[in-house]
Amino acid sequence: MDELTNPYSPGAGLRPAALAGRETQLRVWSTATGRLESHRTARSVVLQGLRGVGKTVLLGEFQRLASTDGWITAMVEAGTGQSLRASLAQALHPELADLAKPSAGARIRKALRTFSAFTVKVDLEGTWSFGLDLHDDPPSAANTGNLELDLIQLGRDLSAAAAESGTGLALLIDEAQDLTRDELTALCSLSHQAGQRGWPLLIALAGLPSLPRVLSEAKSYSERLFSYHRIGELDPTAAGQALTFPAQQEGVDWEPAAVEFVIAETAGYPYFLQEYGQATWNAAPGSPLRLDDARLGAALGQAHLDQGFYRSRWERATPQQRAYLQAMAEDGNGPSLSSTVAKRLGKTPTALGPARDALIKKGLVYAPEHGHIGFTVPRMADFITKQSTT
Ligand SMILES: Nc1ncnc2c1ncn2[C@@H]1O[C@H](COP(=O)(O)OP(=O)(O)O)[C@@H](O)[C@H]1O
Ligand SMILES: [Mg+2]
Repeated sequence: MDELTNPYSPGAGLRPAALAGRETQLRVWSTATGRLESHRTARSVVLQGLRGVGKTVLLGEFQRLASTDGWITAMVEAGTGQSLRASLAQALHPELADLAKPSAGARIRKALRTFSAFTVKVDLEGTWSFGLDLHDDPPSAANTGNLELDLIQLGRDLSAAAAESGTGLALLIDEAQDLTRDELTALCSLSHQAGQRGWPLLIALAGLPSLPRVLSEAKSYSERLFSYHRIGELDPTAAGQALTFPAQQEGVDWEPAAVEFVIAETAGYPYFLQEYGQATWNAAPGSPLRLDDARLGAALGQAHLDQGFYRSRWERATPQQRAYLQAMAEDGNGPSLSSTVAKRLGKTPTALGPARDALIKKGLVYAPEHGHIGFTVPRMADFITKQSTT
């Protein structure tokens, strides 16, 4: 069928036409913002899961919801080479610029002043000024250079400014496992202070399944600061909706057998559902989408994944790193013991430390817990096994 009207959206962070099966997390988020608006307490949120399960999309939806309610929001991605201070400043600037009117009240002026102090060291060219003369306002101390101290002041003053209009401040951070230890500590402290002092401030972190461990290494009390949500494959009902709703909006039906086939083939992984859905639509002669179309779509969708999603990761690895990945793949898709992988390669875990660390840095593997190692993308082992036999 016509590719022009294809309603599926495989890709990193691309919002699906139907955001299926995430009602629990959306409710948790809406309840948290609602509670803070009515001066109650709420915990910040952690979304953890493998690549392609929909963390970025969900984080984006959190931001959209808060923003629609009038909150000051900033969504940033860690691990891009930019400091958290600089990325937050960049994301917050347009939000604050909207508030920077000559008629702005005392709390907003204070927030702007604090923002300027917070960014003074990362904004040498004055890109993030507001065209508002704040020189006669009391100076802010958010320029100590200590991220933890400065971030707490920023959080306090920005959430106070938002509270003027009955809303709050939401900071959303993607790929949070790539934050530095100092950045993680600063965020935990900020969340802790906000909770204790009743500031309307929420943090949402999204990252790999290693994120809770990394957080608790940064601050031992992090387990109690956040509500943790494992984001994974969709259950069959939600996976069915992810396939059928987008088509229905275009007036196209799926035969139940075709839906069942794609759900079984993808195991409900969101990225795979989008990829297979897209290929099935393109392959089908018309509505309804039948089992034969789905079979063809699955083959084409998988080929597309192999050429892109998996191959791009495989090609990032050096020959030595590939050997490491191959040794992991002998355990299938589940995590491996580092010691077992080393034994298979006839080396000690210490000798393989650099290869393992390089693979973690490249985002191909992660350490679910001490002594374990797992693939960051679902079914990577299946792809690797195909590489070794062909
Ligand atoms: N709840 C969902 N229902 C249907 N498709 C989804 C859902 N969440 C994500 N997707 C799709 O899955 C893919 C990966 O989403 P993304 O947010 O980038 O995952 P992650 O950040 O976990 O790697 C995208 O193509 C997106 O459209
Ligand atoms: Mg993502």
